[in-house]
Amino acid sequence: MEEIKVAPEAPKPEKKKTILSCIQPSGIPTLGNYLGALKNWKLLADEFDSAFAVADLHAITVRQDPQKLRKQIMEVFALLLAIGLDPEKSIIFIQSQVPAHSQLAWILNCYTQFGEMSRMTQFKDKSQSHADNVNVGLFAYPVLMAADILLYQADLVPVGADQKQHLEIARDIGNRFNGIYGKTFTIPEPYIGKSGARVMSLQDPMKKMSKSDPNPKSFVSVFDQPETIMKKIRSAVTDSEGGVYYGEGKDGINNLMGIYSCCTGLDYDQITADFSGKGYGDFKNAVGEAVVEELRPVRERYEMFMKDQAYLKEMAAKGAESASRIANRTLTKVMKKCGFVLP
Ligand code: TRP
Repeated sequence: MEEIKVAPEAPKPEKKKTILSCIQPSGIPTLGNYLGALKNWKLLADEFDSAFAVADLHAITVRQDPQKLRKQIMEVFALLLAIGLDPEKSIIFIQSQVPAHSQLAWILNCYTQFGEMSRMTQFKDKSQSHADNVNVGLFAYPVLMAADILLYQADLVPVGADQKQHLEIARDIGNRFNGIYGKTFTIPEPYIGKSGARVMSLQDPMKKMSKSDPNPKSFVSVFDQPETIMKKIRSAVTDSEGGVYYGEGKDGINNLMGIYSCCTGLDYDQITADFSGKGYGDFKNAVGEAVVEELRPVRERYEMFMKDQAYLKEMAAKGAESASRIANRTLTKVMKKCGFVLP
């Protein structure tokens, strides 16, 4: 009898997970945003299917000057390219150029409870800091964020601690919709990046570094010139004890060690060994130089992209087209399930 040969089954190529994150165009990001988030995005883009957006619709939950907003949207879009994200590999787009975000957000509003939105700590904080403009958009902000994530069927979302509650709500909304209509959305998991990237204010190392800090010496902006970076790091608050090591009550030095470690890849023991017998002056110079070298390529690429606004617009349009293709697939599914009549 003839032997029947069965071709060995070709191994299925494993589907890459999808990762999505967004950044608001509210001013120039800091070294903290870079080391804590953006630098990781580049690494994640190499490993996963990825989409990254400028969350401009989120920005208008607080009042914006239109001229300034327009400028900041393009600056942040240029930054996404400058950190090394590749439009051939990742979908890089501007949220408002993909109408599906607003469309899905409206639908999801109707599957979100007033009570659960009222419990969002960011809403409570912001309704105090913007007491004259507690608008419905500010209230519904997490629903728009849920739409951002669920449209792309994202498996993973890298978020900082301040956004964890919003991601949790996105999961709740997704699960609720799936529960009513059957599996429609992938339920996203938070992606927690490597630790050690929580950068604190240079002037008050108990506070997180923030671009909205009224004291410009408290933060390094990703586009600061080398001299400015050196000056800011040299004037960072430390302590009077004098030793370069990680310890309690040494928040200023701990922060600089964290920054230095992130930029150089050296661990704390190595840093302490390298600076034994040296003073804070030497250490600050080394940290300053490491930060300058870390940010130099980002700033240079950014300056190059900003000179070519036509290229940026073209890349944004391409990104929006690819994003729309995926987003509309999900939106259509959702609309059918809800009972809308599609054209
Ligand atoms: N709300 C986020 C922030 O302020 C930005 C954001 C909007 C986002 N949509 C998102 C982050 C979707 C992750 C996924 O930082």
